[in-house]
Amino acid sequence: MTADVDDPQALLLSLLDPAVRADPYSVYARLREAGPVVGPMGIVVVSGYADIDRLLRGGEVSSDYRTSAVFRDWLAEQGADVGMWLADDTQPFLLRDPPDHTRLRRLVSKAFTPRAVASLRPRIVELVDGLLDRALARARAGEPVGAADRSPDAAEGSPDAPAAAAEGSPDAAAAAVPSGAIELVDELAYPLPVTVISELLGVPAEDEHQLRGWSRHLARSIDPPFLLSPEDRRASWDAIDEFHEYLRERIAERRAHPRDDLLSALVQARDGGDALTEDELLGTCVLLLAAGHETTVNLIANGTLALLRHPEARAWHAADPEQRSLAVVEETLRHDPPVQLRDRVAASDLDLHGVGIEAGRTLLLLLAAGNRDPRRFPDPEAFAPWRGSHGRGDPGHLGFGAGIHYCLGAPLARLEGEVTFTAIARRLGEARLPDVELVYRPSVALRGLEALPVQPSS
Ligand code: HEM
Repeated sequence: MTADVDDPQALLLSLLDPAVRADPYSVYARLREAGPVVGPMGIVVVSGYADIDRLLRGGEVSSDYRTSAVFRDWLAEQGADVGMWLADDTQPFLLRDPPDHTRLRRLVSKAFTPRAVASLRPRIVELVDGLLDRALARARAGEPVGAADRSPDAAEGSPDAPAAAAEGSPDAAAAAVPSGAIELVDELAYPLPVTVISELLGVPAEDEHQLRGWSRHLARSIDPPFLLSPEDRRASWDAIDEFHEYLRERIAERRAHPRDDLLSALVQARDGGDALTEDELLGTCVLLLAAGHETTVNLIANGTLALLRHPEARAWHAADPEQRSLAVVEETLRHDPPVQLRDRVAASDLDLHGVGIEAGRTLLLLLAAGNRDPRRFPDPEAFAPWRGSHGRGDPGHLGFGAGIHYCLGAPLARLEGEVTFTAIARRLGEARLPDVELVYRPSVALRGLEALPVQPSS
């Protein structure tokens, strides 16, 4: 598909093209050079670092997409009940503004302080070692990836079961893994964060398959509306309903029998006498589970791929993995971030470099484009984990957002990434990338590989 900046709509729509998805950064660069542009549905696309940073940190925008004129028009077109949407209290705090955002975030934040998260390190090390042991043993034995958990029984009841063998699905991707290679996504990058967040929250590990399906559909819903088909939208709504149903049962269990887990703590939470309502609890749990399922996996896979593709960075990392893995985490979050964009709504009329944006207009903030803004990062296209203040203080990238919605799970994601990159350097030796086509998931907002085969050194 060809598109140029004179036609920002076509340029944005080109992001749906699988070939562009494999490397969207040249499209981002052209958008950035054009400054803020008006895309499909009147959505304003913002790609410069300073503009995005200003909008994320300032009070000019809302995170509540329900305040968007685009969303309301679209709901009305669908014949949906706008009033019901506005009253929906299951909206997670990611999509809310103060004061609700402040209150809800505060209730959860204790579980994610750097200190609380640091106590999880031994368990994370144990999980990473166990997963790598298993993957390497399977690869050495020449067994296919995931044979054990891809039986029809295992897939039953999962919302993505019907598409299990479809092109672009994890199963189709796993089939392309050469003999002797491990499949890094399925065997390490995915199960690690999923197990960690499930254990933290206290949902049974055996429900992972179901949660995976729901999270996958939900993740699609963070794509901008013009890139989402009505079927995708419907599937994500259905997934949310099923997810809520599942969580209602878990919440009822915890009310009756509290345990030592985050779910019990949230059920019992009091903040100055203010408990979470059942709906707020549902929204919060879905947010944590979905964030735990859909993001760190891509940090691990995108970072490993970058190391495999950049020998200089890899050698630098391998020289001292314990000290340098955090820098690889930060550079991955800058160079190829799992969350590529977020949306906001103008809370009042604002002006961005002469582009007038009236209140209620949706803005698309291309975090990944800001992260490669040459006005902020020298030589931005290079994967250079040794750059800047990585590992010491604020690394400056937008990979975790900025401002009041800055990623709550950042300390956990950093720790999981750091432990995993260290183990990969120590245990996979001179691993290489086999000659197979890499397929990205069908999402523009979340950037992640369906599969990443890695051939360990013998
Ligand atoms: C928010 C990225 C891992 C929980 C965010 C935001 C980004 C982000 C960009 C800001 C969204 C916005 O401003 O609209 C990432 C990345 C991760 C990651 C790249 C992995 C590498 C996690 C994990 C958790 C988590 C593991 C927890 C289990 C959250 C929550 C918010 C959030 C609760 C909402 C914060 C708020 O609205 O105040 N994340 N995240 N994230 N993230 Fe993460």
